[in-house]
Amino acid sequence: SEKASRIWYDGHSLAAKLYHHVLTSTDEGKAAREYLRKRGFTKEAIDTFQIGYAPNSWDFLTSFLQKRNFPMKEMVACGLVSVREFDQKPFDRFRDRIMFPIWNKQGEIIAFGGRVLKEGNPKYLNSPESTVFNKGETLYFFHKARQTIRKKNEAVLFEGYVDVISAWRAGIENGVAALGTALTETQTKLLRRVTDQVILCYDPDNAGQNATYKNARLLEKAGIRVRVAQLPDGYDPDEFIQKQGAERFNQDIIGRSLTLMGFKSLFFRRGKNLQDEGQRMDYIHQMLKEISSLTRAVERDHYLRQISEEFSISLDALKQEQRQIYRERV
Ligand code: GTP
Ligand code: MN
Ligand code: MN
Ligand code: MN
Ligand code: MN
Repeated sequence: SEKASRIWYDGHSLAAKLYHHVLTSTDEGKAAREYLRKRGFTKEAIDTFQIGYAPNSWDFLTSFLQKRNFPMKEMVACGLVSVREFDQKPFDRFRDRIMFPIWNKQGEIIAFGGRVLKEGNPKYLNSPESTVFNKGETLYFFHKARQTIRKKNEAVLFEGYVDVISAWRAGIENGVAALGTALTETQTKLLRRVTDQVILCYDPDNAGQNATYKNARLLEKAGIRVRVAQLPDGYDPDEFIQKQGAERFNQDIIGRSLTLMGFKSLFFRRGKNLQDEGQRMDYIHQMLKEISSLTRAVERDHYLRQISEEFSISLDALKQEQRQIYRERV
C-alpha cells in the first residue's frame, strides 16, 4: 500500500544517511574510505551517489530503526533487516559492505547494492526484490541521468554501478546500468521514453559481450539505434578510466563506438580461427543472417560487398546463400 511504501522509503532514506555518515565521518568507516580512495572515488562522487558503509555490526541499523519506531515487520519486508530463524530476532542484513543506494525513477531510495571490501562471496549483496523494488524495472541512476539523456538524445548503458560512477567522474552524465546483465522490456521502454539512441558499454569478457548482443536486439526492436563501445581485454569501463584516463575513455572508447553491425562482425569472430575454412564459413553464415534482417537494401548491399571483398567470394554466391536463409526463415 501507499503507506507501507512510504515507511519503506523512509527506512531506506534513513539507512542511506547513516551509512553515508559512517563512511565519511567515523573511525569505523576508515577502511572503507581507504578502499574507495584507492579506487579513485572522489568526495564529489561519494556525495552525488550517496555512497556509504554498513559497519561490521549485527544491530547498527536495526537498533537505530527501532529507536525511531520503524515497524520491524516492514523493515524485514523491505530487506533492510533480516531475522534470526530460531527466535525471530532482527539483525542488520548489510554488514561490512560499501553501500550503493538504488533509486526508483522518482528518486526514492528503494534498495541497496552492498559490495564487500575484499574478496568475498557474494561480491555484491543486493536488497531482495519486493513490491517496491523490482530489479527488472529499475535502471541505476536513471532518476538523475534522464535529463542529460534527453538533452543529448543518447544514453550510455553500463554493466555495473561502479562503471556508472566512474563514467560520471569522466564527464559522462547520461550513464545508467541495469542491475544484472539482461535488460528487460520495461527497462527498454524507460529508455525509449527519453531517447532513441543507446551506447552499450559492457565488460569485454564473454558474459559482457553476450549480454551486449542480447540487449542490442531488444533495444533495436524497441526502435532504439544502438552503438557499441568496445574496451580492450582486461578492462571494464571503470578500470579503463582509472588506468587510461577520462579523456581516452571519452575519445577512444565512447567516441569510437561501433555501429551494431561493426560490433556483430567482431562478436561472431570471437573464438574463431578464420583461417580454418569451416569456421570461416560459420562466420560468413552468421553475418549473412544478420545482414538479411536489415530493412534497408542499401545497407544490406554495403555489408554484402564488405564480406565479398574480405573473403573473395562473389556477390552472386553470397546473394544465393542469402536467399537460402530467407527460405529457411518462412
Ligand atoms: P567492481 O568489482 O566493484 O568493479 O564491480 P563490477 O561492476 O566490475 O562488477 P561486475 O562486472 O562483476 O558485475 C556488474 C554488475 O553485476 C554489478 O554492478 C552488480 O549489479 C552485478 N553483480 C556482480 N556481482 C554480483 C553478485 O555477486 N551478486 C549480485 N546479486 N550481483 C552482482
Ligand atoms: Mn556527504
Ligand atoms: Mn562483468
Ligand atoms: Mn565489471
Ligand atoms: Mn569493475
